[in-house]
Amino acid sequence: MSPLFLGLACLVANALATGGIYKQPIVESFVAIDMYVSLPVNTTTPAGIVSKVPIVSGAITGGFNGQLVQNISTSNEAMLPLTGGEYSSSDSNLILENDQGGRIFASLRGLTTYANMALHGFGSAFLATDLEEFYWVNGEVFLVEWEGNFMTGLAQFQLSTITSGGRKDNQTIKALAPPQ
Ligand SMILES: *[C@@H]1O[C@H](CO)[C@@H](O)[C@H](O)[C@H]1NC(C)=O
Ligand SMILES: *[C@@H]1O[C@H](CO)[C@@H](O)[C@H](O)[C@H]1NC(C)=O
Ligand SMILES: *[C@@H]1O[C@H](CO)[C@@H](O)[C@H](O)[C@H]1NC(C)=O
Repeated sequence: MSPLFLGLACLVANALATGGIYKQPIVESFVAIDMYVSLPVNTTTPAGIVSKVPIVSGAITGGFNGQLVQNISTSNEAMLPLTGGEYSSSDSNLILENDQGGRIFASLRGLTTYANMALHGFGSAFLATDLEEFYWVNGEVFLVEWEGNFMTGLAQFQLSTITSGGRKDNQTIKALAPPQ
């Protein structure tokens, strides 16, 4: 075993022994999306099957109320591995629109797993907008969780904000402290 590897192993072991560096982050729901999709269109590529899932509609509720812009937003599912298909890497761009026509652009990336004629995924999202009331979303990373049951066309997404729970050793996280 190389000394470098041993060094890394010790670092990892230390982190595990102390139960990690950071306390559990605080996760709070920002919006829920009831998304209806139609049948996927598959393309086989050298890297596997890419499934493009058309998003038919999406009702958005929570901190921002409205709907997904129709017939623009689609989800890409790259099935992994080629022969299995129990996992896919998911990549989608959504446009959230409120009743006043205000829009937030959302880029999602994550991993979907499949079992029991259903799917579930976790991922992260970046949101971008110039809406004054929602300007804060530009500086956040959102945790995304989703679930869908086959043949229903419904997929339910939740985007949550993530706030640091602080360090386990109670030391200040300098970058999050008030400017000095
Ligand atoms: C598209 O690919 C997925 C994943 O392999 C598969 O479940 C689905 O049946 C395919 N759809 C069509 C129309 O072939
Ligand atoms: C989206 O496409 C569907 C099916 O073609 C159509 O019924 C619907 O009106 C379209 N929506 C918009 C906003 O263009
Ligand atoms: C951190 O602060 C909490 C709450 O005051 C305390 O219970 C805990 O023992 C402290 N941990 C360390 C490593 O100082």
